[in-house]
Amino acid sequence: MALGVQSKKPENIAIIMDGNGRWAKSHSFEITKGHKRGVEVVREIVEECVSQHINSLTLFAFSTENWTRPKTEISGIKNLIIEAIHEQLPELVEKKVKLSFFGNYSKFGSNIKEKILDAEKKTSKYKEDLRLNIALSYGGRSDIVESCKQITSSIISGSMEESDINEESILEFSQCPENNIDLLIRTGGDHRISNFLLYQVAYAEIIFLDKLWPDFTKLDLQDCIKQFSKVERRFGQRL
Ligand code: FPP
Repeated sequence: MALGVQSKKPENIAIIMDGNGRWAKSHSFEITKGHKRGVEVVREIVEECVSQHINSLTLFAFSTENWTRPKTEISGIKNLIIEAIHEQLPELVEKKVKLSFFGNYSKFGSNIKEKILDAEKKTSKYKEDLRLNIALSYGGRSDIVESCKQITSSIISGSMEESDINEESILEFSQCPENNIDLLIRTGGDHRISNFLLYQVAYAEIIFLDKLWPDFTKLDLQDCIKQFSKVERRFGQRL
């Protein structure tokens, strides 16, 4: 969306899906059951974004900091993602959802990487409907650092000049496929961005909800979209 233009609906939504662990604990379940419920909610929210004609949904599934979690939890999340790709790919294809993963997800191993590349290939032709982007082993600061390194190499090799560096061209080097997030939602009660899309959320409206991610519903998403549509977005201008 061009800056300064009022949009009724957010075109690009990002979500920090927090609270799976606390949800599991409050139900006396294993942590992995919380993440499993989290994946079911992802499916429902993707469905809602398709019916609401949202252009993109970008989800924070695993941060660079999450690698410090117990090995069993990490392998549980990895297996859930593999399972989700396997189970949900036919539906994503049917709904013409373009699936992309970004971040340093190779750290999860070649098995998951192959499945990700295959799923991306099978949905790559869908550009008009929802773009579903999943951040896996992603950190916003590291994304910016890597972009700086790539820009430096491009200048040294002569494929880019210093004068080519601007707010748009920097985005071409980001791991994230989206340039601009209109609405960022974080569940789970904390009021922070936790190193998610630092550059892309510059003008995002941010909604923090106390609800834990496994309890988030389509109605909650509709409420967030409604809330967004009531906000006047000035982008620093005097309107
Ligand atoms: C935060 O809850 C959630 C995560 C770190 C993992 C979220 C991952 C998924 C829902 C799987 C995503 C899969 C696909 C296919 C998109 P937490 O464990 O930090 O909760 P807590 O703060 O209550 O401990």
